Amino acid sequence: MGHDDHGDLLGASLPMQTLRIQIAQFSNAPFSVLIEGESGSGKDLVARYLHHSSQRSAFPFLSLNCAAIPPGLAESILFGHGKGAFTGAVNTRSGYFAEAGHGTLFLDEVGELTPALQAKLLHVLENGEYQRIGETQARRSHARIIAATNRDLRKEVREGRFRIDLYHRLSVFSILVPPLRDLGQDRNLLLQHFKVLYAKEAGQRPFDLDEQANQRWMDYCFPGNVRELRNIIIRLTAKYAGQTVTEAQLNAELDLMHTGMEEVASHAMDLPVGANVKTMTGLARKHLQVHTHVNLNQILKAWESAYVDAAMNMTHGNQTQAARLLGVNRTTLYSRMQLQQSYKGE
Ligand SMILES: Nc1ncnc2c1ncn2[C@@H]1O[C@H](COP(=O)(O)OP(=O)(O)O)[C@@H](O)[C@H]1O
Ligand SMILES: [Mg+2]
Repeated sequence: MGHDDHGDLLGASLPMQTLRIQIAQFSNAPFSVLIEGESGSGKDLVARYLHHSSQRSAFPFLSLNCAAIPPGLAESILFGHGKGAFTGAVNTRSGYFAEAGHGTLFLDEVGELTPALQAKLLHVLENGEYQRIGETQARRSHARIIAATNRDLRKEVREGRFRIDLYHRLSVFSILVPPLRDLGQDRNLLLQHFKVLYAKEAGQRPFDLDEQANQRWMDYCFPGNVRELRNIIIRLTAKYAGQTVTEAQLNAELDLMHTGMEEVASHAMDLPVGANVKTMTGLARKHLQVHTHVNLNQILKAWESAYVDAAMNMTHGNQTQAARLLGVNRTTLYSRMQLQQSYKGE
């Protein structure tokens, strides 16, 4: 466990205040908690907070990523096995339920459990008892279960991949960790916190964002949530400690490939095609009505080509400046231009 796992749960926005209140309300109850939220939004952190702010905090907190364990081993890891229970079971194993004792067992990515394990887990939650593989003796479980998922578990239930009875048992309490894009000023608070932290670790002065870069930061949607924000700050610290970062330098670090439509919409005024995305949609619709066989890849290539040509024209062929205009780095621009040459040759 790195320091990451013990960091504070930061954020002053209303959704984060609500989250803290929920954690305080749920921490001492014996019932299961289901934590839902996008990847990188802080589900692990919330699970640890629930444990550490409870009366169980003196007991173990065990975390098991259900997506990462080989299905053949999962049952033994959770419930343990007796000596000689199966080939290779030379010793007994107590399993996570036993080891968690009166503590907390955190089942991360619980949506990935196989149907057989879902049934076994339901049994423990309903009866408070389980058996080691190869034993008949019933053992009592005292651990509190916290489960997390970045899937929509209700949808998994509707589509028959997750048992509804288990879903109800796990979600006596449920917490929805908000995505970073809904946390307003918290992205600035997190920026200030992490840039000082990582600069201190590196023995350097923090970087700063210039005005445009700061605006970009506040407008960006962070599809990878706090995890992405942190990683961007780690990279910016490594490259620009003690310096002022420009918008182009910041853009080069953002995960633009995964940027959602909200992001496009918030920058729609910058698009030359029309006033907003609706206008673009209108244009696309007309195009599709007239041409019944369009090729999306060709359309995108044509747009890319048009932007590259325009940027090269405007900068009189200066690739570094053109790349800056386009918000990509120079090597990216260069490889796009090479690709375009090859399309033209097709
Ligand atoms: N509100 C927050 N304040 C501080 N750090 C956070 C916050 N939310 C998430 N993090 C950090 O972001 C990273 C990803 O969080 P994590 O809990 O692993 O997300 P998830 O389990 O939802 O994918 C971790 O390093 C975590 O400490
Ligand atoms: Mg996680």
